[in-house]
Amino acid sequence: MIQNRSQWGTRFGFILAATGSAIGLGNIWRFPYTTGENGGAAFVLIYILCVILIGIPVLIAELTLGRYTQRNPVGAIKAITPRGLWKILGYLGVIAGIAILSYYSVVAGWTIGYIFKTAFHETTNFGAFVANPINEIFYFIIFLSLTMFVVLGGVKSGIERWSKILMPLLFIILFGLIIYALTLPKASEGIKFYLQPDFSKINGRTILAALGQAFFSLSLGMGAMITYGSYISRNTNLISSATIVAFSDTLIAIMAGLVIFPALFAAGMEPAQGPSLVFNVLPTIFSQMPGGTIVGMFFFILLAIAALTSSISLLEVGVAWAVDELKFSRKNATIFLTLIALILGIPSALSQGYSKFLSEMNLFNKTGFLDIMDFLFGSFALTFGGFLLSIFIGWKWGAKNALDEINYGIYKNYEFLKSGWSFLIRFICPIVIFLVLLNIFKIF
Ligand code: PHE
Repeated sequence: MIQNRSQWGTRFGFILAATGSAIGLGNIWRFPYTTGENGGAAFVLIYILCVILIGIPVLIAELTLGRYTQRNPVGAIKAITPRGLWKILGYLGVIAGIAILSYYSVVAGWTIGYIFKTAFHETTNFGAFVANPINEIFYFIIFLSLTMFVVLGGVKSGIERWSKILMPLLFIILFGLIIYALTLPKASEGIKFYLQPDFSKINGRTILAALGQAFFSLSLGMGAMITYGSYISRNTNLISSATIVAFSDTLIAIMAGLVIFPALFAAGMEPAQGPSLVFNVLPTIFSQMPGGTIVGMFFFILLAIAALTSSISLLEVGVAWAVDELKFSRKNATIFLTLIALILGIPSALSQGYSKFLSEMNLFNKTGFLDIMDFLFGSFALTFGGFLLSIFIGWKWGAKNALDEINYGIYKNYEFLKSGWSFLIRFICPIVIFLVLLNIFKIF
């Protein structure tokens, strides 16, 4: 294996970094509005099933492949099968990473903008804020540059240090907001929508949305966890680490919903309003609650940082690839890929009202360039990537070989979990994902 590859400082540092990648806008921005669009509680239930039956097994698989090969996704696949088409799966990951980074940074830019909006009690509504091209491009560039600087710093000093203090803080502030939101009038209607399932609302699209959200939120299907896995040492227990990461990620998403839905119903707003949801609901809470300015600013700062610990993993995949495979210097790789994300992100930034063409374009039932990118890369490409990865790891590399790697770092008797993983990754993951994907193309 490659000598001198940088590694996480400690197992705890790795778990924090992987949790940092997982927890981000996916939990606080994307999860609540996707839940709102897909009818509430029944979606939440399916989401949790997707995380347990598909998300955790694929997460374990990605970490294992990364640790075994000590390489970026393209290199990892080449290390298992030097010839053949499988490496395309690795390239797909690099492309998806940069494509997601492009619009992710636009949304993260809104978060930065909202820090200042909250601080200065600026009351322009969300629609007007995002339709302003100067806001859009300015905050987008700020966020993307922050991502670039952290990635330039390298794995340990950059990524790991950031995650250590800030994740627990985000948890605490969300907890406080839940308590506040639950005391609002009509909070119970929101809780009912969010937690009392109506199974008649489940259909193929709900299931795709839930599965896509699970992949997005756990940072799966594009090799981010292969890359992070490549920096883990062999005395780390991958099964328990993956479970901790998935549990924390799901907990934060569920908590975000417990803030948003009570507040949404209290304010009499519409749950199915799409990507603007949290940016409409949260400022309403902050403007009413005592000390809301400080709490609100603090919240948006933490959200921007949570987004940053995710965006660095989106960029890191491509950087690790360009450094390992193309022999770029870390600096050149980072700058080059950031520039691509910058160019690709501009249409997303302008698709929120400024450019009529970009805002109103319609594809795959999604309206606007940013939403189309999110569907194509954030849902479809990740789900498709997860499908191929589960076949690659379960069958091509082989669950048996993977289990030999998983065994390192496991001291207790994990036989039951190991055979469970092997069954899920070889059968349940590919079959279920395949059926969901078929459904997209309405071949059913
Ligand atoms: N998981 C991150 C979030 O929830 C987004 C992400 C997706 C990061 C894919 C890396 C890879 O915000």
